[in-house]
Amino acid sequence: MRNFLIAGNWKMNGSTAMSTELSNGIVADMPASDRVELLVCPPFPYLRAVAAQLAGSGLKLGAQNVSAHAAGAYTGETAATMLKDIGCEYVIVGHSERRAMMGESSEVVAAKFCALLAAGLKPIVCVGETLAERQAEQTNAVISEQLEAVVEMAGIDSFANAVIAYEPVWAIGTGQTATPEQAQEAHKHIRDVLAAKNDAVAGVVRILYGGSMKGDNAAGLLSMADIDGGLIGGASLNAADFLAIADAAIAQS
Ligand code: 13P
Repeated sequence: MRNFLIAGNWKMNGSTAMSTELSNGIVADMPASDRVELLVCPPFPYLRAVAAQLAGSGLKLGAQNVSAHAAGAYTGETAATMLKDIGCEYVIVGHSERRAMMGESSEVVAAKFCALLAAGLKPIVCVGETLAERQAEQTNAVISEQLEAVVEMAGIDSFANAVIAYEPVWAIGTGQTATPEQAQEAHKHIRDVLAAKNDAVAGVVRILYGGSMKGDNAAGLLSMADIDGGLIGGASLNAADFLAIADAAIAQS
């Protein structure tokens, strides 16, 4: 049985005051469940402050990016060991915003994935197609390419310590959510790609859905067989909205 993971990706939003208020608000009303894990991924400057606030609460801490390199002359970059050092457990890699705006290739994403595992962190690797790719019926091919690059570099067994997020680019920040059936189809494809290489690993890896997930559509998505949680952008910036998604997960667990 896979536990749900409900993860908030705050993206480049907030301030000291906002991150304090948001993390305190989540901790204050957080439901207790050993079947649903809750995670927040604040911007880098607020990681330490949020780490202090969620200490002992069960709310977990993650980052939104990492360097592929271990240490050295990489001005402006952050090493996986540093994120581990300040209390992160998870790190997002391969978000479509970084692939599109920062030009991160699937190989760079795979190298970051490996750097995280080497530091004892859990990668959340994002995959997903654009609208044009979906319309050209390339959804499965795009997902496979993004996934295979990581499998090739890190090995299939490494996915036992990783999470995958299916984030259709056309659903991110648009209010246009994939239907539960559309999402399930993509999640099943992801699990099938992994199962062809290692059935046991495919059975334990959690696959999150991301793209305009909210309290009122979470239940339908989370009820699908291969959807094991959510990677939430906009709705994670408000404690009540985020916790509504957590409650939907608890109701299914
Ligand atoms: P939204 O929930 O704002 O659509 O963002 C999804 C996302 O990109 C999470 O990583």
